[in-house]
Amino acid sequence: MRKRIVAGNWKMNMELTEGIALAKDINNHFSASPLKDNCEVILCTPFIHLSSVSSALTVSGLSVGAQNCNDHKSGAYTGEVSAAMIRSAGALNVILGHSERRTLYGEDDSLLAAKTTEALRNGLRVIFCCGEVLAEREKGIHFDVVKRHLEKGLFMLNREEFSKCIIAYEPVWAIGTGVTASPAQAQEMHHFIRGLVEKQYSKQVAEETTILYGGSCKASNAAELFANADVDGGLIGGASLMKDEFCNIVNAL
Ligand code: 13P
Repeated sequence: MRKRIVAGNWKMNMELTEGIALAKDINNHFSASPLKDNCEVILCTPFIHLSSVSSALTVSGLSVGAQNCNDHKSGAYTGEVSAAMIRSAGALNVILGHSERRTLYGEDDSLLAAKTTEALRNGLRVIFCCGEVLAEREKGIHFDVVKRHLEKGLFMLNREEFSKCIIAYEPVWAIGTGVTASPAQAQEMHHFIRGLVEKQYSKQVAEETTILYGGSCKASNAAELFANADVDGGLIGGASLMKDEFCNIVNAL
């Protein structure tokens, strides 16, 4: 059975002490009411939190992720953080291909493919984001955009490597806007994505791939989104910064 996952993307929020306090609160919550066997929670924090938050999480099913990594192994890349460093801080996951990295920092498909390869080489699980901007949806090319993101950024992987990846569909027009994709829009795209994975790998791989929805997902709409057959959880931005809101989203799994 494929994993159902809620991942919080803290983005550039939370000073260190605040982040540790939030992680401890979340850990206490799931210590008192444990996650079901096939459910997981991932906290994707800023780099400086990784080590402390990893230590703060003691409950099974909870893990830490970074929000980016460099595509090189090591060397003269001032200000950058390698996949090996992330892994050494206790993190098991990394978000790659987020639309904010693509648009604000110019990360393109080939760079993301290199980052993905480097992350997997270091034993990280990749949460790979794809999704169209509003103009692309209005033009009716949203399926083409998502297909390109996956073909260029992920489908160079072999089957074994791909099995270490989670896909996150994040329509850019829904990120931080309060406008959520409807359950039907999410299901339609997730079903399309699973079909692409089946064509590229196999039906079994497609059935085992976790596909998350991201974009203004909150406690009040999580249940109707997660109820769809191909929506296996969420990648949560703003609502992941509040313990009760975030834990209620997890409960919707
Ligand atoms: P919001 O939940 O704030 O819309 O952000 C979604 C997101 O970008 C998660 O990666």
